[in-house]
Amino acid sequence: MNETQQDPYANNGDVNAMPNVGRPGKRVFIETYGCQMNLADSELMGGILSQEGYTAAQSLEESDVILINTCAVREKAEERVFGRLSHLLRLKNENPELILGVTGCMANHLKESITKRAPYVDLVVGPDAYRRLPGLLVDAQNEEVDPLIDVKLDKREVYDGLKPVRTPGISAWISVQRGCDKFCTFCVVPFTRGRERGVPPEDILAQCHDIAERGYKEVTLLGQTVNSYVWEDWDFADLLAAIAKIDGLDRIRFTSPYPTDFKTKLLETMAEYDNICNYLHLPAQSGSDDVLERMKRMYTRQQFDDLVGEIRTIVPDMAMSTDIIVGFPGETDEDYEKTLDLMRKTRFDFGYLFKYSERSLTAAARGIPDDIPEEVKVERLSKLIALQEDISREIFQGRVGTTQQVMVIGDSRRDDTQLCGRTDDFKMTVFDKPDYELKPGDLVDVVVETATSHTLIGRVA
Ligand code: 5AD
Repeated sequence: MNETQQDPYANNGDVNAMPNVGRPGKRVFIETYGCQMNLADSELMGGILSQEGYTAAQSLEESDVILINTCAVREKAEERVFGRLSHLLRLKNENPELILGVTGCMANHLKESITKRAPYVDLVVGPDAYRRLPGLLVDAQNEEVDPLIDVKLDKREVYDGLKPVRTPGISAWISVQRGCDKFCTFCVVPFTRGRERGVPPEDILAQCHDIAERGYKEVTLLGQTVNSYVWEDWDFADLLAAIAKIDGLDRIRFTSPYPTDFKTKLLETMAEYDNICNYLHLPAQSGSDDVLERMKRMYTRQQFDDLVGEIRTIVPDMAMSTDIIVGFPGETDEDYEKTLDLMRKTRFDFGYLFKYSERSLTAAARGIPDDIPEEVKVERLSKLIALQEDISREIFQGRVGTTQQVMVIGDSRRDDTQLCGRTDDFKMTVFDKPDYELKPGDLVDVVVETATSHTLIGRVA
């Protein structure tokens, strides 16, 4: 997989998503795997638990409760969680009182195999059951039978009225939509997260005002097919425009839009407001009509190309990234060539590139045999990664000599004499610290001097 610093799917559970609220109480550690929506859900669980007096554990060892917030979208993500759970068994052996819970998408998808492969798990909680978490934790403590399972999906649950405990920083996530109605044949999300529903705009706007007042500078609106958002007579463009008018939010992002849900009005709204970033993550999945049809994506290659054309007409400097699956059942060499052609012609700034893995419950698992040999998948993936690396490098190097406005994130991970930040169009940028102080969230002009395929490198203008 093409895992980069930009990868929105690369949460690896290495930090406690439960922030320290400084009150005494049972100590919780929440590890997050998978997408940004899972990060937002972990913050929501943190909020629900801190209301009940739970506090953040400083380490796994001192935790009373460990929650693993899981991802089921690809096989690899699931295997990683099973590996993690068997590792955590050691802590349960040391502390029999410890409650180990699995939350999120694997809860619905794998409740049976979790109980078989990790029978020491105490609690399995699906994405629509987080309000019941405090009660479930009490029950799990008193319960003799393992594990306690609550994976009921609820088509009305949007967690409005709750206060997530947000990760401190400059950037916040807000889920504006839950679930998915698209039923792409490869995808497990409709089964793990249930039907699509929007969060009421009043609730979203209240959260946006709250984060702006608390000093967050950037917000990312989240939904599985975020641009299909509706609430009474509000559509996604209306929601974006209302958020763009809030003082203090310098950068507004959203992910992921679905190709057939684009309206011209959304692109015009993006063009109209400076603080809506010129970056779109637009999953194509394949460049071949036959594959797109078997995936049930509901668009053709031509329609996708036309959409890219319209995007670039209305917002000429729009940066774009995509998701591609190689080795979908029945993908021929010609189909794969069409995906390479799509990548060469569209020239995405980044690509998140995956090998198909069959997910139980999906239409493909029930009716389209996973017939592409592993070696073919591996070869197609590595060739595609190499192509995208070349394109990304050319695009990034094309910025050399330009001045980019960068929002400071903080010290560069590799070198503390340097700062890192992102451009409006989401490119990671590294530059030497100037002789005055720059804080996270500050905007600074950087002249780009060199570039790799993932990073711009420069100096303050
Ligand atoms: N196999 C491989 N990749 C998948 N994705 C979703 N389901 C699968 C699967 N079964 C990829 C898609 C999606 C991204 C989130 O994960 O590209 O856009």
